[in-house]
This record gives sequence, C-alpha cells and structure tokens, in this order.
Amino acid sequence: MTIQINAIDKFYGSNQVLHNVSFECKAGDTLVLLGPSGAGKSSLLRVLNLLEMPDKGTLSIANESFDFSTQISEKQGMALRKKVGMVFQQYNLWPHMSVLDNLIEAPIKVAGMNKAEAKKEAIEILTKLQLADKADAWPLQLSGGQQQRVAIARALMMKPDVLLFDEPTAALDPEITSQVVDIIKELSKTGITQIIVTHEVDFAKKVASHLLYLEKGYVVEHGDKSHFTNPQSQAFADYLKH
Ligand SMILES: Nc1ncnc2c1ncn2[C@@H]1O[C@H](COP(=O)(O)OP(=O)(O)OP(=O)(O)O)[C@@H](O)[C@H]1O
Ligand SMILES: [Mg+2]
Repeated sequence: MTIQINAIDKFYGSNQVLHNVSFECKAGDTLVLLGPSGAGKSSLLRVLNLLEMPDKGTLSIANESFDFSTQISEKQGMALRKKVGMVFQQYNLWPHMSVLDNLIEAPIKVAGMNKAEAKKEAIEILTKLQLADKADAWPLQLSGGQQQRVAIARALMMKPDVLLFDEPTAALDPEITSQVVDIIKELSKTGITQIIVTHEVDFAKKVASHLLYLEKGYVVEHGDKSHFTNPQSQAFADYLKH
C-alpha cells in the first residue's frame, strides 16, 4: 500500500473542512478527487505532502508514517516533499529562469544532485514530454499547455513515488488536456502513484483507476473507476449528471 490515510480531521480555525477522511491507494493507482467547490479536495491533497497539517488522524505515504496527534516538524515536511511531488494549476514556474534551470534547481539545491547529472536528467524528461526544444526558453514564452508540461517535468525531476495534481487542466484547452491525459497514463505505467483533483468529469474518467468523491469534507463515494458507471450514492450520481 503506497498511501493509507486514516480518520483525518482538519480545521481552519473553527471551520472543520475534513471529517474523518480515510482511504487507501495502491502503488500505480491513479486516484481522482472529485467534489463541489469547497468540498475540501485541495485541503486533502495538501495534507498528503504535509503542506497542511490536519488536527487528527494518521497518514502513511511513500514509506513514511505520520500521526497528527503528535507534532510534525517542517523538516519532516520538506523530506516528504522530495518523495511526494506536486503540480499546481498555476504552474508556479520561476519566470526569471529558463525551462532547464527551472528543472535542475531543486535537484541540485535540495537533493544534492550534481549539475551535469541534473542537466542530463532534465533533457531526458523534457524529451519524453516533447519539450526538448524548449530547454532554453523562458516560461513566459511558452503556451499554457507547454508551461503545464514543464511543471510536470519539474516535479518528475525529483523521481517522486507519488505525484499530486491540483486541477492540472483547469486553464487548458481540450487538445492540451488530452496531452496531459496521455502524460498521466504514461506515468501510471511506470508505477508512480498519482492523485488528481479535478472538476472535469470527462478528464477524470479518462485517467482514473480509482475515485474519491467528497462533499463538505466527508467522503461520500470511494472505489474503482466502475463507480463512474455504477455510482453507489445518490449524491455522486447527481454530481455526474450535471
Ligand atoms: N488557508 C485556508 N484558511 C482558511 N480556510 C481555508 C483555507 N483553505 C481552504 N479553506 C476553506 O476550506 C474549505 C475547503 O477548501 P478547499 O480549497 O480544500 O476546497 P476545494 O474542494 O479544493 O474547492 P475548489 O474546487 O473551489 O478548489 C473551504 O470552505 C475553504 O474556504
Ligand atoms: Mg481546490
């Protein structure tokens, strides 16, 4: 089991945004997180790499275990984020660095990779994502879809066990979205576990091996992709219809 999350409660002040959330995920699974705006999808995703600390519960991920009733240090969070990468909707590329430098920054500074090795690795990953000719470009010279692929390439540089995506296709047109679908499918063949927050049901259906549907911080539906055609809850059935 790559990921096991158990009985997570998360509050922002007095507002409880995750209620007793539990789920499991096997290595190589692609789990999509679905639910209405404000359901707690991003909060849950950020718990998985300790960008958010829940108030209660336990998490096992990438061969590390955390009990949130004890204090977890920033150092533990940083160590985990080397193994649990994240791709954001707004790419978050550094605008003052070339594509190549965006990719090699963290491996050199955080993981201690040497520069030549990092460059070689970066070119390999860029080639795989059909971006080799963009290595020396500035992020702002790229289209939205190209920037998103660079963001995925950057996350892959750390060779994560788990890759988290928060609405990776929200700003993309359909053709680029289908490229992201292809990348996610390719990655799943390598055994990497992917967790993807999305609002787009069609996209979710194309990439998911499993799904988790949240409403108001509660898990309402969880299972393999057959739940798309055979929902077990009225709430998820209604969500799929709109
Ligand atoms: N940093 C924060 N401080 C306080 N409240 C927050 C914070 N982040 C999120 N919330 C609240 O937590 C709840 C869940 O938010 P979250 O961003 O996890 O939802 P979401 O399902 O990702 O929504 P969306 O689909 O709109 O992105 C919301 O009520 C939100 O207002
Ligand atoms: Mg969100």
